[in-house]
Amino acid sequence: MNSPEFVILCELLEGDPNFVSGSALARKLGMSRVGVWTHMGKLRAQGFEFEAVRRRGYRISGYPPGINPLLVQACLKSRPKPVDLLWLATVDSTNEEAERQLAAGRATPFVVIARQQSLGRGRFGRVWHSEDTANLYASFVFRPHLEPGRMTTFTLWMGANLCDLVANFCRIQPGIKWPNDLYFDGRKLGGMLTEARIDADQIRDLVFGLGLNVNGPARSLPPSLAQQATALVECTGRPVDINRLTAAIIGRVLKAYEQFVDGSHRNTFADLWNRYDLLRGKSVALVQGPRRVVGIATGIDDEGALLIRGEHGRPQRFSAGDVTLENP
Ligand code: BTN
Repeated sequence: MNSPEFVILCELLEGDPNFVSGSALARKLGMSRVGVWTHMGKLRAQGFEFEAVRRRGYRISGYPPGINPLLVQACLKSRPKPVDLLWLATVDSTNEEAERQLAAGRATPFVVIARQQSLGRGRFGRVWHSEDTANLYASFVFRPHLEPGRMTTFTLWMGANLCDLVANFCRIQPGIKWPNDLYFDGRKLGGMLTEARIDADQIRDLVFGLGLNVNGPARSLPPSLAQQATALVECTGRPVDINRLTAAIIGRVLKAYEQFVDGSHRNTFADLWNRYDLLRGKSVALVQGPRRVVGIATGIDDEGALLIRGEHGRPQRFSAGDVTLENP
């Protein structure tokens, strides 16, 4: 059931820029005007501000900074199925919380979003710095019942979809660096971390984690990372509406997941990948444990492995590794 705060917010957003009368809100909620006032107080405590004019009513005059769960849900309101969104002010890691929720039996799909993470993690156990509350830290959680072998292209498919969404939403041209980095103009904009638990021959559950630098400037990161990082606010030159963006990302990820499970993603995957692939045709170095391979990246194969052509001979395929551009 929707909370009174959510109903008030939706009514005011729908009415904007007009005023909505206190009695209309009271009628909608089936409560007194004093009751409405009390619930508006709870919204004020979250950082919303309201303009109140006698005989006209209320309208929103200020929004809380950063991501707000009610605003994200308000943007998702028209979806046929409600999205199960678990919102946390702070958490160790949204991927970790997703695992706890799965273990407790929470029905999938659901999305975990936190304003801050204290132990955000990236690939190869690296730290994902998540102090800045102006960025997006999210995990999307599924029980796909697919063969493990099907998963090799999952993160690549999601990454291409996210690039496409960000390209359209922000009017910029981001790219994906195989297998899990989102880039803009040679700097890292975000990262994806897919973690799955596998039973004998089936994926039991799947957590797709996304960290995206939105309005937190790269200089808020430790100096060693700041130079290689960027954020949407820097790519576009203006603050991005993180609530609308988050809602759009949720919609796109849930749709991309369904397409992946029913196999219809195969119709568009190659095109989408090629549109956003940052490595194709470039000189790269891939590090895999003690091994370092240098050559020209020539794309990916059907299993999502990176193809690298060395100085002589045919492309070699790599299903894991850390890639850097040789002469960016
Ligand atoms: C990488 O670039 O290595 C992947 C980074 C993934 C970070 C996200 S933030 C939300 C989710 N929770 C985590 O602890 N990690 C992922």
